[in-house]
Amino acid sequence: MSNSKLVNIAVLGSGKGSNFLSIAKAVSMGELPARICVVVSDNPEALIIKKANELGIPTAVLPCGKYKTWLEPWIEEELVRILKEYHTELVVLAGFMRVLKETFLNAFEGRTVNIHPSLLPAFKGKEAWKAALEACVAETGCTIHWVSKEVDGGKIIAQSRVPILPGDTPESLHARIQQAEHELYPKVLKDLCLDWIKKYAK
Ligand code: GRF
Repeated sequence: MSNSKLVNIAVLGSGKGSNFLSIAKAVSMGELPARICVVVSDNPEALIIKKANELGIPTAVLPCGKYKTWLEPWIEEELVRILKEYHTELVVLAGFMRVLKETFLNAFEGRTVNIHPSLLPAFKGKEAWKAALEACVAETGCTIHWVSKEVDGGKIIAQSRVPILPGDTPESLHARIQQAEHELYPKVLKDLCLDWIKKYAK
């Protein structure tokens, strides 16, 4: 793949960072025309930060603020400042556990994608694999979508289906969904980066 333009992608996560690793691997293999310019977390202990540090990718940790599920506007301002400092073109949410609101969306709506562990619009919200298992549906999956002010409600970009098998536990099902995520995210990001380059690269 030609190196003439690489899209700067920032990855935001709060947890173990397995999706981040699948993206970083695809970048290092030259499979997507991107560079990970920064990894940002709201959790200083998150494995995603440790893994990014090990790979020599710049990292930043946000102040945790007063609320668990969202960031106060001044923290979103700090997030936007960091993303701009690293010349971010595309924001990739990979297990980022805070709902992003107006201050962030004003700066990055239309340039931010998320991965959710269900076939949206089914099973929005946390631990969607458990909800799918409890609902006794035959299959679930993962969805990549644009981030908008409606949580897990932005326009769908791509989905991958995952069967629910007899004897599945929340853990076994989540692991199967994550495998699908690790395949789907790099592929979709490749398409988004190629589109981005076509539209904006000089
Ligand atoms: C993924 O399962 C994703 O669907 C959800 O958060 C999880 C993040 O996992 N939004 P990881 O940190 O990438 O391993």
